[in-house]
Amino acid sequence: MVADLIVHNIGTLWTPKPNARPAFGSEMSDIREYTNAFIAVKDGKILALGESDYSPYVGPSTHMHDAQRRLVTPGLVDSHTHVVHYGSREHEFDKRLRGVPYLKILEEGGGILSTVRSTKEASYEDLFDQSKQGLERLMLHGVTTVEGKSGYGLDEENELKQLRVQKALNYAHPLDIVGTYLGAHALPKAYEDDRTAFLEQVVSTMDVVKKEALAEFVDVFCEKGVFTVEESEYILKEAKDRGFLLKIHADEMEPLGGTEMAARLGAVSADHLMAVTESGIDALASQGTIATVLPSTAFNLGSDYAPARKMVDAGVALAVSTDYNPGSSPSENFLFALSLAAIHMKLSPKEVLTAATLNGAHSLNRGSERGVLDEGYAADFIIYEADNFPYVLYHFAINHVNDVFKDGRMVVRDKQSIWEAKP
Ligand code: NIG
Ligand code: FE
Repeated sequence: MVADLIVHNIGTLWTPKPNARPAFGSEMSDIREYTNAFIAVKDGKILALGESDYSPYVGPSTHMHDAQRRLVTPGLVDSHTHVVHYGSREHEFDKRLRGVPYLKILEEGGGILSTVRSTKEASYEDLFDQSKQGLERLMLHGVTTVEGKSGYGLDEENELKQLRVQKALNYAHPLDIVGTYLGAHALPKAYEDDRTAFLEQVVSTMDVVKKEALAEFVDVFCEKGVFTVEESEYILKEAKDRGFLLKIHADEMEPLGGTEMAARLGAVSADHLMAVTESGIDALASQGTIATVLPSTAFNLGSDYAPARKMVDAGVALAVSTDYNPGSSPSENFLFALSLAAIHMKLSPKEVLTAATLNGAHSLNRGSERGVLDEGYAADFIIYEADNFPYVLYHFAINHVNDVFKDGRMVVRDKQSIWEAKP
């Protein structure tokens, strides 16, 4: 069969092996390496790849792209972000630098609640434009699939506004966006004396989210001073009953038992985990719940990094993400997050690649289509301005991504975004 596109002269191609489930523990080091390789693409999918002769796939209309002996990996999957939001929070920077804790700022009505105010006030167009800029920056850093959460509305109207903007962006922008409804991200001050009423409101909005297909996942911020394990369990059970897949923000500051609870409910992932306990790690390993670690957040908040090395050694499947948001992780530089995962979490470059591709894709229920390069998978891949992946992590805080292909279409060329709106 003739290819639409052949990328040839690839110096090194690194990809996890295709796997119907996430890679657990030591499996995360199973990376296929091809040298002097090609990728042939047909209809947005991979027709063939490898080190063999690609001439059988060349026809008169085949577009040839010379990778100039550079490194190629699958497009990165950023499986935990809050990309749709309005404004920024540098006005709280001084306070944080003086040592006021993240949760204290929230308790005083700032933090997440400050972004809730600006997101509520923003017009649909302004919210769309700022969020689109976030997607662009993620894509320039090699991200081809991204998760996006609500949680800056905290009432039905504004949670839906956020998710509708996100759905529109999914059509308008080349990145695939997987939606998560995070209606229980913080408790609005008005509900302090009636937490139950707030939870009821969060649950009733789920029906609209489902009806409009605005999200596939439901998430909750289970944390001391935010939502208790019991409240989080209530939200997640209601979500499960409605056919949503589950995620949780757990053990970010205090180990409350949210990880164990979510694993028991069959959550696809538990995220943050800086304070995860032995029993939490056991629960993740035995239930097969993916641990999503967010090293940029630990870097930015100056907190301890999640014990990722320990979790991988215990047989847990790990994903790494940016957690891109205006408060705890204001950066779309996924490669920087991946360098932190290597440097501070002591993950090997092979483990880091699996965490940012195959396991990220599984944590978004996309593992059978994306996250690896193999025949039949989506042609989402990156050409780096580098010839090996360890170098990309080692030479930190620099964007080594040169070109990005999404569903076989070049969307970034020579570090510039070149896509046009989908027809
Ligand atoms: O994943 N921890 C809770 N939620 C986000 C932060 C959101 C914000 O600060 O605006 C997180 O870190
Ligand atoms: Fe988050």
